[in-house]
Amino acid sequence: MSNKHTFVMIKPDGVERGDVGNIISRFENKGLELQNMKLMHISRDLAKKHYQEHKEKPFFNELIDYITSGPVIVMIWEGENAISAVRFLMGATDPQKAEPGSIRGDMALSITKNIVHGSDSEESAQREINLFFK
Ligand code: TYD
Ligand code: MG
Repeated sequence: MSNKHTFVMIKPDGVERGDVGNIISRFENKGLELQNMKLMHISRDLAKKHYQEHKEKPFFNELIDYITSGPVIVMIWEGENAISAVRFLMGATDPQKAEPGSIRGDMALSITKNIVHGSDSEESAQREINLFFK
C-alpha cells in the first residue's frame, strides 16, 4: 500500500439520508477508482479500534455511539495522491468551517455527524484497510 490507496467511510447519516451515490460520484468525478466497497454495521469494538487515537478525547463516547448507530459504507479508493485528494474533497472536520463545494461543506451541519471519514496518512490508510477489509 502507498499513498495511492485510501480508506473511506460514509457514516450512518450519509447512508440514512441517501447521500451514498452523491458522495461516490464526487470521488469518481475527481478520477479516483473504487477498489472495494461494502455495507456494514460496525461493532463498538471495531469502532473503538478505528478511532483509537481519540480514546482520551471528550467527544470519544459520542463518536462511538454515532458511528455504531446504523449501517455505514466502507470503501478503498485508488489514485495518485488518493489520501490527500480524498481529504481535500471531504473538507474540514468541522462542517461549519468546511468550504462550500466540499462534501462536509455542502452536506453537513454538525462536527459529530460530518458524513464521511477518510484516512489522514499512509500509516492510517494501511491500518484502516487492514481493520475493515482483511
Ligand atoms: P478527527 O480525526 O480529528 O477528524 P477527521 O474525521 O477530519 O479526520 O476526528 C475524528 C472524528 O471525531 C471527526 O470526524 C468527528 C469527531 N469529532 C468530534 O465529534 N468533535 C471534535 O471536536 C473533533 C475534533 C472530532
Ligand atoms: Mg481523523
